[in-house]
Amino acid sequence: MDFADHSVPTRSVADSQSEMTELILPNDANTLGNLLGGRLMHFIDLVGAMAAYRHSRTHVVTASMDHIDFIAPVHVGDLVILKSSMNRAFTTSMEVGVKAWVENTIAGTHRHVASAYLTFVAIEPSGRRISIPRLQAETSEEIRHYEDAGRRREHRQAELERKRASHPPEKELPGLVRPGKS
Ligand SMILES: CC(C)(COP(=O)(O)OP(=O)(O)OC[C@H]1O[C@@H](n2cnc3c(N)ncnc32)[C@H](O)[C@@H]1OP(=O)(O)O)[C@@H](O)C(=O)NCCC(=O)NCCS
Repeated sequence: MDFADHSVPTRSVADSQSEMTELILPNDANTLGNLLGGRLMHFIDLVGAMAAYRHSRTHVVTASMDHIDFIAPVHVGDLVILKSSMNRAFTTSMEVGVKAWVENTIAGTHRHVASAYLTFVAIEPSGRRISIPRLQAETSEEIRHYEDAGRRREHRQAELERKRASHPPEKELPGLVRPGKS
């Protein structure tokens, strides 16, 4: 395995927990005035990366984002509040949980709108993967998230292996016609 093994201390969940709030503007919305799903995914990726940066203190790339349900619409003028928390650190990868709520600023109400699990991989500027600090799960909730993340990783790895076996990497996009080639 080719990655840099820098010995680094264990960090707590609280060390990297992150939060961001976004005011939804017309530019973020679809033709019905609701927040675009892709824009919400962008916010989820950003707040997830914040926790991953804080835990690993190096560059990270998003390796995967698990299944997302868009539970309720978010409207122009709403505030979206997103919180991210490290669930588990593996060797060079880490799972971060993100939860998003919408705040109706006029009614003063909050509603859960989406949750997701993201895996980030730590890399050096050269692109080489780098080992990350261990995560110390302390509370009963943190321990539950830690154990659940282990089960999801097993499921993800099995799925990845299944896909790799059934879809070997393509050398060329199927049906792609290059200019000058017949
Ligand atoms: C993510 C990436 C670095 C993995 O590289 P790779 O050579 O396939 O690495 P490996 O298969 O050896 O796996 C490396 C680590 O990533 C994890 N990993 C790889 N693919 C993964 C996936 N799809 N989901 C979750 N974790 C994944 C592995 O479990 C492993 O973790 P560990 O070191 O903690 O055990 C590589 O695929 C990549 O650079 N992807 C593009 C990332 C990017 O640009 N993201 C922005 C979206 S456009």
